[in-house]
Amino acid sequence: MAQQIGLGVDSNPDCESVIRCLPGVSANTEQTQALIPDTGVPFAEASDLEDCNALIIGSPGYFGNMAAPLKYFLDQTSQYWLSGALIGKPAGVFTSTSSLHGGQESVLLSMMLPLLHHGMLITGIPYSESALNQTTTGATPYGPSHLAGQQGNPLNQGRNLSLPGAGETYRLPDQSTQPMTHPLQLVCLTSLIGLLFCQLSLFLSIQGSFSFYWALILSLPLLLPLKGMLVNRLYTYKWIGFLALFYFCVGISELVSNPALQLYAYLTTMLSIVLFIASIYYTRFLRLNS
Ligand SMILES: Cc1cc2nc3c(=O)[nH]c(=O)nc-3n(C[C@H](O)[C@H](O)[C@H](O)COP(=O)(O)O)c2cc1C
Repeated sequence: MAQQIGLGVDSNPDCESVIRCLPGVSANTEQTQALIPDTGVPFAEASDLEDCNALIIGSPGYFGNMAAPLKYFLDQTSQYWLSGALIGKPAGVFTSTSSLHGGQESVLLSMMLPLLHHGMLITGIPYSESALNQTTTGATPYGPSHLAGQQGNPLNQGRNLSLPGAGETYRLPDQSTQPMTHPLQLVCLTSLIGLLFCQLSLFLSIQGSFSFYWALILSLPLLLPLKGMLVNRLYTYKWIGFLALFYFCVGISELVSNPALQLYAYLTTMLSIVLFIASIYYTRFLRLNS
């Protein structure tokens, strides 16, 4: 099931699934299993929870509850509960049981509880997933589920709920489809492009052979943050204020020292102030919404 859900997550170009399994628990404190499993995906570590952007956990249904290894794993995550590291991260749950009324919903609910304590945002499968109305075995609005039967039947994707479909339900907020039209972002971009044109205009304004190099030297730093700004990277907006300060100093120094470049100096100073202020407020906005 995890592999199938991973396929659904991966179908979103902005998401990458990382699948982990858990070792069994033992009644004594000795290490009973190798640190790395012989086959399959690596064991999960508590730090994986902090590293991931979203979490989907699954467990076979054991007496209407999650299995002990998962409970044991979750019981070791109190550091993240105390630090609040998982607050606001999207999460989902899935399960597999041997009998149809073997408690699939209660298993799913049992896994939701610790995630809610961590402040995670629980998602299920909405009824827009048409397979939810047609399935005769697994799948619930609380999350994907599989009826394995007494023989542990493998997934039959064609007949019932398409599990890649269920994985797609767990799409993370898609950054690329979010409109890139926040006014502050536009202000930042416009002022940066304005600054760029100002620097390039030096090529025409300054007499002499060095004007080309001077225009180039002052233009190049402005190209560096362009990609980060376009893809809405918080890191870029965080540091762009320093770039704005630099051009503010350039503008002021030209304003007081070079009467021939008054217009250039005035525009550079104004645009750098706008970029500085807009980037501060936009960084704040991105931080609050990340
Ligand atoms: C201790 C234990 C308790 C179980 N309790 C239930 C149960 O209450 N209902 C049920 O349908 N299946 C129950 N099962 C069967 C498992 O849910 C079933 O084997 C599961 O689908 C295995 O998933 P897996 O093939 O992914 O390991 C139980 C199995 C064990 C070992």
